[in-house]
Amino acid sequence: MKIMHVDASAKRERSNSRALARYFLERLREERVEFDVDYLDVTVDTPPHVNEAFAIATYTAAQERTAAMRATLAASDALCARLLAADALVFAMPMYNWSMPSVFKAFIDSVTRTGVTYLHAEDGHIVGQLGRHKVLFITSRGADLRAGSPYESMDALTPALTAAFGFLGVAAPTFVDAQPLQFANPEARTAALERAREELATVAAQWAQGERVANQQAEALCQTVVE
Ligand SMILES: Cc1cc2nc3c(=O)[nH]c(=O)nc-3n(C[C@H](O)[C@H](O)[C@H](O)COP(=O)(O)O)c2cc1C
Repeated sequence: MKIMHVDASAKRERSNSRALARYFLERLREERVEFDVDYLDVTVDTPPHVNEAFAIATYTAAQERTAAMRATLAASDALCARLLAADALVFAMPMYNWSMPSVFKAFIDSVTRTGVTYLHAEDGHIVGQLGRHKVLFITSRGADLRAGSPYESMDALTPALTAAFGFLGVAAPTFVDAQPLQFANPEARTAALERAREELATVAAQWAQGERVANQQAEALCQTVVE
């Protein structure tokens, strides 16, 4: 399995979302899942913000693009290719001002590409190209936005991620939200991290089980072909 792992926290060693993503990958290894990681730190390799040249080039039909337009889209093309080549996506990020870090938004703007990551079917429907991908979002939040909390209605992160990747064909992404990690007492923060780790261990076990089933099916298919 090929996993694209994207980190988006401005913090490094002290980042909880980065640590939780590493924890998830360790759990997958412990579950004996074989995988390669294509790693991207969008705080270091930040995709360019949408500018006028990009906005025009991206909606110009491929066969009508000039050399300059193709050059404008080259970095986005390369990022889309990485995304499409992966079997699974692990995106780790903090909540910033109730939504996603701007560097991750820049990533979404770069990989949401007509004719590449989503296609127009003949009947006009949009067909997202990430339908076969497993997708895990690991988010860290300072406040507690779980159901019933006074901050519940402030969560603009979960719907934004669900919509952006739903458009690209991701029907059922998994969310592990570590919260509250800042605006709470130490006990509540520790409990939040423990909850998140438990949820990540469960997701790792589910992915491992999915891989075992897929491998068994592939082996059975090979056997049928040999016979
Ligand atoms: C600029 C900034 C904005 C933030 N905005 C929010 C917010 O709107 N809601 C929230 O719950 N936490 C907010 N936080 C807190 C972080 O989401 C929280 O500390 C998180 O655990 C950071 O993840 P990290 O350790 O991976 O960087 C903000 C933190 C920063 C630095």
